[in-house]
Amino acid sequence: MSGSEGRRRVLVTGGAGFIGANFVHYWVREHPADEIVVLDALTYAGTLTSLEPLLGRPGLEFVQGDIRDPGLVEALLAEYEIDTIVHFAAESHVDRSIESPAGFVETNVLGTYVLLEAARRSWLGGAVSAGSDACRRFHHISTDEVYGSLGPDDPPASESTVYAPNSPYAASKAAADHLVRAYHRTYGLPVTTSNSANNFGPYQFPEKLIPLMLIRALEGKPLPVYGDGQNVRDWLHVEDHCRGIDLVIASGRPGETYNIGGDNQVRNIDLVHRLCELLDDGFREDPALAERFPDAPAARGASSGELIAFVTDRPGHDRRYALDSRKVRGLGFQPREAFEETLRATLGWYLDHESWWRGLMDGGYRAWMSRQYGPRATAEASEA
Ligand code: NAD
Ligand code: TYD
Repeated sequence: MSGSEGRRRVLVTGGAGFIGANFVHYWVREHPADEIVVLDALTYAGTLTSLEPLLGRPGLEFVQGDIRDPGLVEALLAEYEIDTIVHFAAESHVDRSIESPAGFVETNVLGTYVLLEAARRSWLGGAVSAGSDACRRFHHISTDEVYGSLGPDDPPASESTVYAPNSPYAASKAAADHLVRAYHRTYGLPVTTSNSANNFGPYQFPEKLIPLMLIRALEGKPLPVYGDGQNVRDWLHVEDHCRGIDLVIASGRPGETYNIGGDNQVRNIDLVHRLCELLDDGFREDPALAERFPDAPAARGASSGELIAFVTDRPGHDRRYALDSRKVRGLGFQPREAFEETLRATLGWYLDHESWWRGLMDGGYRAWMSRQYGPRATAEASEA
């Protein structure tokens, strides 16, 4: 966003989570004059350590609280005269949504409703506005998972693809997207939505595929690949995602949705193999890693790939996601981060920030891992 549009007062929900924290770092760097309020409940997935270098900085406030609390949200909008809401807060892990969907409905649907209603009251006085207010923006972060599973020859999902969510997580995000749309159509609330592909990069909680595999390989633990490992995801570096969101806030049309993909479709098994190779290279280049992680196969010169174990598939596991991002490209978006390099850089980040991820692997994490992976049948580890 250009400085000529003035200083913004931005409420970032979920700013202590993976993408939200990257976004706060990004925004402080790119828009240093803006004021930012981060609202985050600090669930298991959020940690202040991801914002540590920024805490105490003038113009940045952190508030621990729940987006489902209307009094709190309305008070924040008023007190800080918020003109821009960037809404990341969500329960975000598909596997957890299969185990316990209730929290997904509560945070993703009800929480989004509370934020929309607070914005309507604060910005429109609770009324219906005839037009859109160019000075204000409610930007909602959503996912490609709302479009459901694509077949191998289907074209990538565009913004007009019919929603067909398959997991409780995806369904709760789809419901939130519909509410956001309705608040524009009915009340004229100046909203935009972006649906992004799978993100990767620093500060990702170690239950998601890439950090999970890296950390388990370092610890010499099996790498659990669901099903036959042929599921395809489109991978987008989180920094590119932040740039895309910035562009949509600056130039997107209120009421519109924008897909932000990486044009980078990869089969899970290929991704896990590549991570293993990068890790093996890392151990060869830096002998100190063998001392730090003596249980890693790479520490004894073996391949991390020997840990790959095919396990029982995720119920309703979507086969393929891919996004048609031509609309956001029309605004000038272009992913900049090369996949191979940023994958290596992400591995480097996890190696350099062991205390960050160790700090998250508490009793709750270990209990989740044993519930999630303990009962899963393991097939013979073999190339799919
Ligand atoms: P995350 O789970 O890492 O972070 C979510 C954050 O929201 C956490 O800090 C958590 O404490 C906070 N939070 C949860 N419930 C809350 C509540 N009730 N009130 C306040 N804060 C609450 O998630 P993420 O991967 O950073 O995803 C961020 C957003 O991007 C989500 O809306 C997700 O649906 C969407 N998204 C994620 C991906 C991805 O690959 N990670 C891809 C597309 C879209
Ligand atoms: P994930 O990071 O959970 O993202 P999403 O399900 O939102 O795409 O998983 C990415 C892919 O990796 C998905 O196809 C499921 C698969 N996966 C595994 O094979 N094993 C695992 O342990 C995890 C967490 C995911």
